[in-house]
Amino acid sequence: MKNSWRVVIQMKSNILSIFVLVSSICLLGAVIYNENVRLISKFPFTWRIGGGGEVQYQEEDVTSGDVELLPPPPEECDLFDGEWVFDNFSRPLYKEDECEFLTAQVTCLRNGRKDSLYQNWKWKPRDCSLPKFKARLLLQKLRNKRLMFVGDSLNRNQWESMVCMAQSIIPAGRTSLVKFGSLSIFRIQDYNATIEFYWAPFLVESNSDNPKIHSILNRIIMPESIQKHGRNWVGVDYLIFNTYIWWMNTVKIKVLRGSFEEGSTEYDEISRPVAYGRVMRTWAKWVDENVDPNRTQVFFSSMSPVHIKSLDWNNPDGIRCAKETMPVLNATAPPQVGTDRRLLTVVMNVTGAMRVNVYINNITALSEFRKDAHTSVYTLRQGELLTPEQKADPETYADCIHWCLPGVPDTWNELLYARIISGS
Ligand SMILES: *[C@@H]1O[C@H](CO)[C@@H](O)[C@H](O)[C@H]1NC(C)=O
Ligand SMILES: *[C@@H]1O[C@H](CO)[C@@H](O)[C@H](O)[C@H]1NC(C)=O
Ligand SMILES: *[C@@H]1O[C@H](CO)[C@@H](O)[C@H](O)[C@H]1NC(C)=O
Ligand SMILES: *[C@@H]1O[C@H](CO)[C@@H](O)[C@H](O)[C@H]1NC(C)=O
Ligand SMILES: *[C@@H]1O[C@H](CO)[C@@H](O)[C@H](O)[C@H]1NC(C)=O
Ligand SMILES: *[C@@H]1O[C@H](CO)[C@@H](O)[C@H](O)[C@H]1NC(C)=O
Repeated sequence: MKNSWRVVIQMKSNILSIFVLVSSICLLGAVIYNENVRLISKFPFTWRIGGGGEVQYQEEDVTSGDVELLPPPPEECDLFDGEWVFDNFSRPLYKEDECEFLTAQVTCLRNGRKDSLYQNWKWKPRDCSLPKFKARLLLQKLRNKRLMFVGDSLNRNQWESMVCMAQSIIPAGRTSLVKFGSLSIFRIQDYNATIEFYWAPFLVESNSDNPKIHSILNRIIMPESIQKHGRNWVGVDYLIFNTYIWWMNTVKIKVLRGSFEEGSTEYDEISRPVAYGRVMRTWAKWVDENVDPNRTQVFFSSMSPVHIKSLDWNNPDGIRCAKETMPVLNATAPPQVGTDRRLLTVVMNVTGAMRVNVYINNITALSEFRKDAHTSVYTLRQGELLTPEQKADPETYADCIHWCLPGVPDTWNELLYARIISGS
């Protein structure tokens, strides 16, 4: 096992520059088509042979009134160090066709995926157990409150998952989903609670802030400008931030001189971790000045990894993530898939010096094992489901960035949930 990993690492260093180039192009392609188009799928199940789409469904907890408060996992337990265990009894937490709020971007089975085991894995921390997810307890915590995801399409992926996890116990017609510009609000009337998503792929102001038009190749940011977005986050009770994938298209980041409002167009090109540090310090200052830590809990999600090169996990017959049906299970460490960990170092450094306590949802390593769980060709491109011709060409079209739902983002939410129910 050690030997094969050494081979992987040597190969990686030889092809590193090619890899950076190729993955940049791939990321570019994948990110730009990810538009927030709602599409009711009428796609015939021509690609689905056999009963592979069947998923086991867990009866919802119907206890009324107060849910018993279980002791949360001990503070010292590292929830992010553990393993994936197969559990088709308790997973998935909800069924794809029983959550009307899922967009066609993530409904992989409906879009023709034949294998469904990717829905049946449970994250098991090494030294403790994650609390069992109970929608009712979550909603009791969210009563009269707002929870908001802020960031890029991976945070939107997690928001869709959270909506489905929460809505399962709510009767039809007692929820609503509305969109105003960058903000999407899912409301649960009976609890006066909202689960929201705010599009800000770099957190700070950028030329990529339009929630619908993402075909921006020349991405430019204003690292010290956050107020335009930040004013929409004031007073929220649970804030979950991320920013990663839009940083990965180029090695250097374009930083505007002046401002978009003044019509400036000149920019400097700055190394990725340096620009990321400027953005994180702007963000940290905003949080410290605008968040009341007695009211609001702040979370930051680490990088969601991509699985673009099957040699990263030793599969010479793979095509990106397209042929993967199982997680990486036999490795002691996650596969090296090119995640830029320098950015998490920046986050740790910046958050360590903040007045407000920020909880890092360290999802990177656990997600790196999940080469099987991306949307691949069972998704949208520029708002349309892939055509059969495109599906037959995963080398070009597989999305190995976003995740099928139900799936990996449900686990990210279980980790959030563990923290939310243990907070006072
Ligand atoms: C893990 O198992 C797969 C399939 O059995 C094998 O191809 C791969 O080389 C193994 N990886 C390691 C690191 O042992
Ligand atoms: C769960 O997995 C086991 C082992 O693969 C299988 O025998 C069983 O039929 C599965 N159950 C369901 C409901 O899918
Ligand atoms: C995140 O979790 C992984 C897996 O346990 C660990 O190796 C890494 O050090 C953690 N990173 C941070 C910043 O906590
Ligand atoms: C409903 O929730 C909002 C926060 O989302 C809060 O400001 C408002 O006071 C709540 N309404 C009631 C009647 O409690
Ligand atoms: C938070 O609450 C504590 C105790 O109630 C209080 O001493 C402190 O001033 C509050 N902090 C803020 C920022 O309101
Ligand atoms: C950590 O943050 C401090 C203060 O913001 C900065 O001076 C220092 O360069 C940072 N170090 C790293 C390794 O990013």
